[in-house]
Amino acid sequence: MSEAAVWDKLARWYDRAVRLFDRSYPAVRERLRRDREGRQRVLEIAAGTGQFTPDLAGICEQVVASDLAPAMVERLRQSLRERGVEGVDLAVMDATSIDAPDAAFDAVFCANALHVMKEPARALQEFGRVLQIRIHCHDHLTP
Ligand SMILES: C[S@@+](CC[C@H](N)C(=O)[O-])C[C@H]1O[C@@H](n2cnc3c(N)ncnc32)[C@H](O)[C@@H]1O
Repeated sequence: MSEAAVWDKLARWYDRAVRLFDRSYPAVRERLRRDREGRQRVLEIAAGTGQFTPDLAGICEQVVASDLAPAMVERLRQSLRERGVEGVDLAVMDATSIDAPDAAFDAVFCANALHVMKEPARALQEFGRVLQIRIHCHDHLTP
């Protein structure tokens, strides 16, 4: 089964599961509010069902929220609609092959996801490319 297919299967119960096991999200939200300076164009990677997308939409001018799994993106679309969050562009996208030109964004936001990726070092290289910054990472990140 492909990586995307695994996450597609998990999408249905992800909201419930995440609520049970993660208490760190409020701290991330607080940090986001403090770090809002200069974050006009933001790419959210591995957005899941949108644990942070509404927060980003509230503080950034332009948000593209993406995930590898189409079912996660579909749930995210539904959740944003239900919560009345507008102006977020959604995309099915692999972090290791970001469909955007160099320097397209001012910030990349990726929470709780690098550790589940097969090639996190490649994803970090892609973050650097779309931000036009140099990221040096050693390949031991890749399992
Ligand atoms: C543990 S969830 C995190 C979701 C959300 N960011 C959160 O903090 O709750 C991991 C997410 O990473 C996505 N994902 C896994 N591999 C990916 C990849 N190569 N590119 C983009 N997203 C990926 C999965 O589809 C899943 O939605």
